[in-house]
Amino acid sequence: MASLRTQRMYQLAGALSRQQPTSSLASVWAVSKRFKSTAPSLKDRLSELIPEKQAEVKAVRKELGSESLGAVTVDMAYGGMRGIKGMVWEGSVLDADEGIRFRGKTIPECQKLLPSAEGGSEPLPEGLFWLLVTGEVPTAEQVKGISAEWAARATIPSFVEELLDRCPSTLHPMSQFSLAVTALQHESSFAKAYQQGISKNQYWEYVYEDSMDLIAKLPNIAGRIYRNVYKDGKLPAIDPNLDYSANLAHLLGFGDKKDFVELMRLYLTIHSDHEGGNVSAHTTHLVGSALSDPYLSFAAGLNGLAGPLHGLANQEVLRWITKMRDNLGAAEVSDETIKDYVWSTLKSGQVIPGYGHAVLRKTDPRYSCQREFALKHLPTDPMFKLVSQLYNIVPGVLTEQGKTKNPWPNVDAHSGVLLQHYGLVEQDFYTVLFGVSRGLGVLSQLIWDRALGMPLERPKSLSTEAIKKMFANKKN
Ligand SMILES: CC(C)(COP(=O)(O)OP(=O)(O)OC[C@H]1O[C@@H](n2cnc3c(N)ncnc32)[C@H](O)[C@@H]1OP(=O)(O)O)[C@@H](O)C(=O)NCCC(=O)NCCS
Repeated sequence: MASLRTQRMYQLAGALSRQQPTSSLASVWAVSKRFKSTAPSLKDRLSELIPEKQAEVKAVRKELGSESLGAVTVDMAYGGMRGIKGMVWEGSVLDADEGIRFRGKTIPECQKLLPSAEGGSEPLPEGLFWLLVTGEVPTAEQVKGISAEWAARATIPSFVEELLDRCPSTLHPMSQFSLAVTALQHESSFAKAYQQGISKNQYWEYVYEDSMDLIAKLPNIAGRIYRNVYKDGKLPAIDPNLDYSANLAHLLGFGDKKDFVELMRLYLTIHSDHEGGNVSAHTTHLVGSALSDPYLSFAAGLNGLAGPLHGLANQEVLRWITKMRDNLGAAEVSDETIKDYVWSTLKSGQVIPGYGHAVLRKTDPRYSCQREFALKHLPTDPMFKLVSQLYNIVPGVLTEQGKTKNPWPNVDAHSGVLLQHYGLVEQDFYTVLFGVSRGLGVLSQLIWDRALGMPLERPKSLSTEAIKKMFANKKN
């Protein structure tokens, strides 16, 4: 049974999501206050940190503003802007060899330091979100507060439910996801406040409220899509006593599988952020720079995540492995046969999904921690055995082919095999889970974008003609 306080919070959030447009800062501020426990709330802490960070950025720009971050070559302009240092992202930094650090912390450090659920050992993504927003490790109580707050804000308006219910089941789950997030824009407190005229220094507070609402609603959207497309369309209610991942698992119909719930906690933590230059992060940040609200910005990011070279690769990986298993037939496949299959994929002009990376040059630590999870929870799963076999074979083949700069596996090479183990076998749905997690990273940055007054993003482009002209005299 939910406590009275939690039930009350839930009712308040439901009422809030139905209320008429309002943009008074006091009413938005009050929403956060309603969820406050005795510990400082995330919003309280953020409002303390923002002036400090603003002063820090001001000082950095004053001292270093005219320093160069590096040269930009013509190849970089044609080559997808690889290596150009041209944006600021506070939540995480990606090192080519070491992999991701969330606010300076590696994945194993996050697994150790962030609060976990009672009886569980994986970090709660609520804690990771707190870390991304503040740079600080939250207490277990603060994390519980976020779980309760997100559960309380989780209701989606009935017109969005109806929109999803009317989608044909043949519409890709990512398209449905993006559609629903765009439609939720109807609820944006930032958009309403902007229309009524607010000062720039208030932007972050509305973006914060929208971001908290949006993150809270993602499990309901994901669950509805999953149940509509693959099941009977019936969805349980959010349970205000559960954490975010447990609620997501519950909505998907896997809530009774303890290890799956743990997997969701790990999954949502590690897929959240991968510095700012990747397609979904950069797109959310770019669209947000036009002061499009968090719903519109994140929907744009989701459309990027839905590309097969980005998030959709996790769907492609399992599809490719399943095809391999079906083609090869035998339960145990020899290394030689797998090698031939990898070569045949390459020779047909396709990429090996789950391998390679635009920045990383070693095995992705997000792959490694999923492998650890598999070794602990599903060591004898036949598909995991295939994934492990591929890990021993693909880097060698890619190196021999000599094209890819990074022959090692990325996060997507491992996620699907974990999901299928627990019965979540619908590959087209996998990127939706990635999207739920990605919301944590890109929206935490969006709050900072507005707090730091990041301007409209508008890099300079050149035509080939202009590039030739630029260097015509230098070459003679
Ligand atoms: C992620 C990815 C898009 C990065 O692209 P990138 O930065 O351009 O990578 P590289 O600089 O190493 O690419 C150089 C060449 O190697 C190829 N290459 C890279 N990864 C490859 C892979 N996994 N399989 C086959 N070829 C690959 C590229 O297609 C490119 O070929 P081209 O010269 O014919 O255009 C790329 O590695 C890829 O397509 N991987 C498979 C999809 C995937 O797993 N995506 C998820 C990423 S988290």
